[in-house]
Amino acid sequence: MQLPLGLDANARASLQAQIFEQVRNLIVDGRLQPGARMPATRILASDLGVSRNTVVLAYERLAAEGFVEMRSPIGVFVARNVIFDSPRLPEASIASGRDGSTYRDRRIVFRGESHTVAPSPDASIRYDYWVGRPDATLFPAKAWERILHQTLQEHGPGVSAYCDPAGLLELRRAVAQYVGVARGIRARPDQILITSGIQEALNVLARLFIGHGTEVAVEYPCYSGAANVFTSYGARLATVNVDREGVDTSRLPADIAFIYVTPSHQFPTGATLPVERRAQLVDWAERAGAYVLEDDYDSDFYYDSAPLPALKSMDEAGRVVYLGTFSKSLGAGLRIGYMVLPDCLVEAATVVKALLDNCSPWLPQKLLAEFVTSGAFAHHLRRTRTIYRDRRDCLLEVLREHFGDLDVSGSQGGMHVMWRLPEDFPDASTIQREARRRGVGVYDLLSCNVRVRRDDHLNARSLLLGYATLDEDAITDSIALLANAIQDGAAECDAACPQPWQRSMA
Ligand SMILES: Cc1ncc(COP(=O)(O)O)c(C=O)c1O
Repeated sequence: MQLPLGLDANARASLQAQIFEQVRNLIVDGRLQPGARMPATRILASDLGVSRNTVVLAYERLAAEGFVEMRSPIGVFVARNVIFDSPRLPEASIASGRDGSTYRDRRIVFRGESHTVAPSPDASIRYDYWVGRPDATLFPAKAWERILHQTLQEHGPGVSAYCDPAGLLELRRAVAQYVGVARGIRARPDQILITSGIQEALNVLARLFIGHGTEVAVEYPCYSGAANVFTSYGARLATVNVDREGVDTSRLPADIAFIYVTPSHQFPTGATLPVERRAQLVDWAERAGAYVLEDDYDSDFYYDSAPLPALKSMDEAGRVVYLGTFSKSLGAGLRIGYMVLPDCLVEAATVVKALLDNCSPWLPQKLLAEFVTSGAFAHHLRRTRTIYRDRRDCLLEVLREHFGDLDVSGSQGGMHVMWRLPEDFPDASTIQREARRRGVGVYDLLSCNVRVRRDDHLNARSLLLGYATLDEDAITDSIALLANAIQDGAAECDAACPQPWQRSMA
């Protein structure tokens, strides 16, 4: 570490005093952290062009006054219990965000809210039904290790260079091939833009289309990770209701820049949008001169039949932007997603991507390209699909054993189902609380990144169950605990008047 010290040989203070003073300042204002190793005296002396003894004397004084600790023979370290001059902000400079959170400086013009990227670790939860997570133990680590080794041997220099902001060509080719076969989309590699997950793609599109007050449409309810991006750029949200078949295409608004939809597996209800509604949506976009952002986050997992081709596959007029991700099939930590863009948006979107981060990291793109083109990805999908399908089957069966007939949606694909609770059950937040006390994480919509009104009946009466990370034993044990939780929650709510389902469970 090179310290930012500047000595003045003509100053009245001695060189030793100047070193003492400047190092002390670095420590008290927090730029040198407690426990940090100080440069060796010989090295600092050489950096500053002074004698080693001058530095030794300065260090001794710093030690005597409690700023550093001499740990001979290891070295000199900033003292751990040093007192900081931490700058305190005047209360008046604390501005409130829309959600009531505080922004510590009034000059921060950004006023956004975030979704929950990952739930905070909770050791008390043994069985967690958090939505949208693949089973980390199924990550094909051996294949990646082999590809990593080969890649670094053959193409190591790629790691240290920027790549095309639109993404590595091999990966864009592999994605074009994949979406052609799996999603029925005819795309050239130059229409593909690699992003850091769908989340970055949404930011790129928001940057393209949204200015202060721009009206855009979202499903109601919808994924708050998307809605929050749009509002953070100044959008006004129009909502289009979702029914049992997905977004209601008979009520699409006029004069909007785009509508954001999840047609394969509506988030959160899991509805699949029927072909007629898809056609209506594409027609409407063409007539209205608007775009459709198709978020296809978890369509890699369809269990009983192939998924319907993507909306983008019906897009003759170039009004649909398709958003895909490897977060569900491989893992969100990879941070690799992609967009399939209409030709007219390619250039502008690539410029925005370059402004955001120059380009996505080369190495994960290279490994993924190899993983997909070698056929290993298709193999991985076949394997994980079977495992998740068995888990889904087990979940539905065990739920039926405990609760009888179920109103569950979204089980045809993806990694979560939405369970609309019978009217005589306790409400979702009571069940969530009681289940948590028994080590089971189940969630109402609001807790799981769903944009929905708190007092909406759907929020009060629905639970989301993400099942991909739990094996059959875990599902069986946890649903038994959930049944207890529901029984106790109901008893608490209505001790005097047992409900029919409670009697049947007893
Ligand atoms: C509906 C939906 N869209 C997009 C995403 C974000 O995916 P990514 O990890 O690719 O940014 C998620 C994440 O869970 C999601 O649920």
